Amino acid sequence: MSSAKSHFDQPRLNELFDDLNATLKDFIRSHQVTYKEFHQALAFLGEVGEKGETPLLFDVFLESTVDLVNNSERGGTATAVEGPFYLPGMPELKSPCVVPHRANEPGDVLFFSGTVRATDGKALPGAMVDFWQADAEGAYSHFNIPQEKAPFNLRARVKADDHGRFEIQTWVPSSYEIPKGGPTGALLKALGRHAWRPAHLHALVQHPGCEDLMTQIFLQGDQWIDSDVVGAVKESLVAGMQKHEDAAEISKRGLKGPFYTLEFDFVLPRGMQKAA
Ligand SMILES: [Fe+2]
Repeated sequence: MSSAKSHFDQPRLNELFDDLNATLKDFIRSHQVTYKEFHQALAFLGEVGEKGETPLLFDVFLESTVDLVNNSERGGTATAVEGPFYLPGMPELKSPCVVPHRANEPGDVLFFSGTVRATDGKALPGAMVDFWQADAEGAYSHFNIPQEKAPFNLRARVKADDHGRFEIQTWVPSSYEIPKGGPTGALLKALGRHAWRPAHLHALVQHPGCEDLMTQIFLQGDQWIDSDVVGAVKESLVAGMQKHEDAAEISKRGLKGPFYTLEFDFVLPRGMQKAA
């Protein structure tokens, strides 16, 4: 309990523990939990710990509720959960920019752009947009794609321009399944539920004098948009891409085929300054 000691004061710890314990006892009584089920639960939690899936289990079933409880009143762009695939130390680029990618990066090019503003409407020059996403096959660099094959693929820290504008050339992400090989995946399968997340872009947006914004932009029309396994989708974070097929537009961008654009403005509440 050493980590708990450092994060909770004793009255708060007692309040939380007593209520959690009482809730679980009520649950056992109301469902008449059997000894067999009790031991199955213990074995499951033991396996979750052994396989290092505690963060995954909590991400899937609980984090979106923690996000709602803590952020629903804050104003500005809605927040969304961070998820497990953020990486510190991403390359710093200035807008407009192209994110690190492979020579044969699969899928369609996407220009993701917008303005970073404060809730008072003022643009935030030089705002930092930490950006990361899955590729067109649903894979994250350094996690699903070995780091040495594609360092920081489709990841960057992008500095907005003097007007708070950013434009990031990237590739359209795919929906993906959360890791299914361990106990979390086995639980989803036993429940008869899928493991899919709708296609999305992750962003952590920061500017001195404003509160950090951790969010995700979800691609409109994705087949999993109404049943995200993590439950992170918020209506205001769903955005539509526009397809561009005009030859002159394609050539102006220096591309070889059709591309997509997605415009989304980030709005940060004024508040406590945090390190950018
Ligand atoms: Fe993700």
